[in-house]
Parts: sequence; structure tokens; C-alpha cells
Amino acid sequence: MAKRNTLIAGNWKMNASGDMAETLTDGLKAWQGGEGVELLVCPPFPYLGPVGAMIAESAIKLGAQTCHARSSGAHTGDVAAEMLADLGCSYVLVGHSERRADHGESDADVRAQTEAAHRAGITAIVCVGETDSQRDQGQTLDTVNRQLAGSIPDGATAANLVVAYEPVWAIGTGRTPTEAEVQEVHAAIRATLSARFGAATADATRLLYGGSMKPSNAKGLLALPDVDGGLIGGASLKSEDFLAIADAAV
Ligand code: PGA
Repeated sequence: MAKRNTLIAGNWKMNASGDMAETLTDGLKAWQGGEGVELLVCPPFPYLGPVGAMIAESAIKLGAQTCHARSSGAHTGDVAAEMLADLGCSYVLVGHSERRADHGESDADVRAQTEAAHRAGITAIVCVGETDSQRDQGQTLDTVNRQLAGSIPDGATAANLVVAYEPVWAIGTGRTPTEAEVQEVHAAIRATLSARFGAATADATRLLYGGSMKPSNAKGLLALPDVDGGLIGGASLKSEDFLAIADAAV
């Protein structure tokens, strides 16, 4: 089996101010690093430049929370993947459930955004996950598989794709699936990637779990065989908590 680096990604969402971004980033510099662990922060667009400058000399990576499918043009308020690359982003989240809900982003949109990230040389973290009612109706795997099929473009590789499994009902709620449920979905995601891209690619692609990950549950979740990291919202807003999760991955 391929040795996969663990990716601990902080999704700040629409949080922070200039001061808070500075304090939080400063706190992350305490990170000692860990063998095979990558740390990533995804601040809101206005703070990408300042946060990027603060972490430039560190091992911490910079990412954005979305990108537009096009490289340029009449798209007021949008940001192109090429611009993110210019700012030093090596990752971008695409298809987060909040984008799918707030902005009506479809699987086809997410696929186009993923292609845009790839054009710009950025790794796309494609987010998928079922709602509460889809889980209750036993549709978890069907939902995730449908999102994977629609959202991931043919050119995906283990280097330019990360998949984040985020059950919508677990985001920001303090509720998480059991470890067995997380492992079941992650194994299914890897099997789906294997059927489409081949076993070697599937084996090397990192699969993150997201949804109420925190220092107290991180160790168990990160130790699951098909969990290769976390996408962390709330707990990424406190540097001690975020670093405690990164330490749990070592
Ligand atoms: P949470 O958010 O950790 O606050 O649940 C995770 C996410 O939405 O990426």
C-alpha cells in the first residue's frame, strides 16, 4: 500500500479579521512539524496575501476556499484559480457543502472548478457528503458516489486531487459518525476511485474526514486505515486546538 502523507487542513470559512488572522497564524508557527504530516490553512480571500506572507518561511501550506471555473473575464466578485496560484496557494477547497447550499453549486460546477484548479497547478480538495435525511434513508454511499462521479474530472491524479468526506449533518454540530461509519464511507470512496482511475491512483489519493473533528476525537478518526487527514472548521480557529489535531496525526 502506498504511504500517504497526512493532510491536516483548516477551513476558516467566513471567519477572522485582520488581527485574528495574524494572531492565529502566529500561533501556528509553533508547529514543530511531524513526519509525514502536512499542515494547510484556508483563510478567506482577503487574508490569503497576509497569511501567505506570514507562513512563507514555514512548512505550512496555503489554500483557498473556492475558485471560479474560468481563468478571467466578466465574473464580478469571483476569483480565478490562477490568481490563487499567484498568491501562493497550493490547494483549494471545491464543492464544500456550504458552497453547494449557499451558491447552488452543482457537481458539474465543482468538476469545472476542479479542472480550473488543475489548469493552475493547484491541488483540489473535492468535498462530498450526505445530508441527515440521505443517511436516514440509507443513501449515504449512493450520494457520495454520485458526487464523486460528477465532481471529479477525468484528469485527476493522486497529486492534484484530495477528497474530503464531510457528512453535512456533522459540520459544526458536534456530532460525528462512528469511526466504523467513517471507515466504511472512506473505503467505499477509495473503491470508487479505484474503479475509475485504477488501484495505484486510488491507493495514493488522500481522503480527509471533516465534520466536528476536534482534539478529543481526532486520534481515533485519523488512525482509521482509509482516513488520511482532516478538514477542520471550528477547531481550526484556535491555534492550540488545530495543532493538537495535527499532533494527533503523528
Ligand atoms: P467543522 O467544519 O469542523 O466546524 O464541523 C468542517 C468543515 O465544514 O469543513
